[in-house]
Amino acid sequence: FQPKVLAGKRVLITAGPTFEAIDPVRGITNLSSGKMGYAVARAAREAGAEVTLISGPTALDAPFGVQRLNVQSARQMHDAVMAQLDGQHVFIAVAAVADWRVLNSSEQKMKKQADGSVPELKFEQNPDILAAVAARTNLSGHPYCVGFAAESENLIEFGASKREKKGIPLLVGNIGHHTFGQDDNTIILFDENGHTVLPRAGKLNLARQLISEISKRLAQTSLF
Ligand code: C5P
Repeated sequence: FQPKVLAGKRVLITAGPTFEAIDPVRGITNLSSGKMGYAVARAAREAGAEVTLISGPTALDAPFGVQRLNVQSARQMHDAVMAQLDGQHVFIAVAAVADWRVLNSSEQKMKKQADGSVPELKFEQNPDILAAVAARTNLSGHPYCVGFAAESENLIEFGASKREKKGIPLLVGNIGHHTFGQDDNTIILFDENGHTVLPRAGKLNLARQLISEISKRLAQTSLF
């Protein structure tokens, strides 16, 4: 039984990888499975929230009672998030968003050249969705922004500085870089008071703990 700590609250979540097209049949993606973001969506719904999940391509079913909007690219994810932002109390960015998109993507399928010449891809930077949402947090502190970070080294140091760089109250660090696709995880929560480790556990278990931590922090601000 999960206490309904987020009853009446609206929570917006991003999950999964993004897919950046090279041409109509090819693209660049990453190894995010979406499992952590979907677990967070499920836990938020169990806690009584009205949940919207903006998902890149994954093999997962939408959690019960969660509204899912499917997107492919980082720009589509950005636009979908901005379109849903009004009235959200919490924004949790779990998606592994591609840092770059292909600048010279092709409308037609690229053909293999007889002379063996290969395409040259150029890249341009994608918008930082989390930083954009954090910049729109209103005077009453909404949406309360939570980010994720997968660092392969010096997580404690990088986690604290990434939280400040993104301008968010809470950052969740994944320990190690072996979380993608796994069913369990170890996470560290970074907030203005320092950090707290949530020891290795299943992603749904960690997601429920995270939702409880978020609701506590919301309650501490007089804005809840
Ligand atoms: O800067 P970095 O990609 O390590 O930050 C990770 C956090 O920022 C995650 O919460 C991720 O969902 C979010 N992010 C985003 N838009 C991007 C890049 C990252 O929302 N373009």
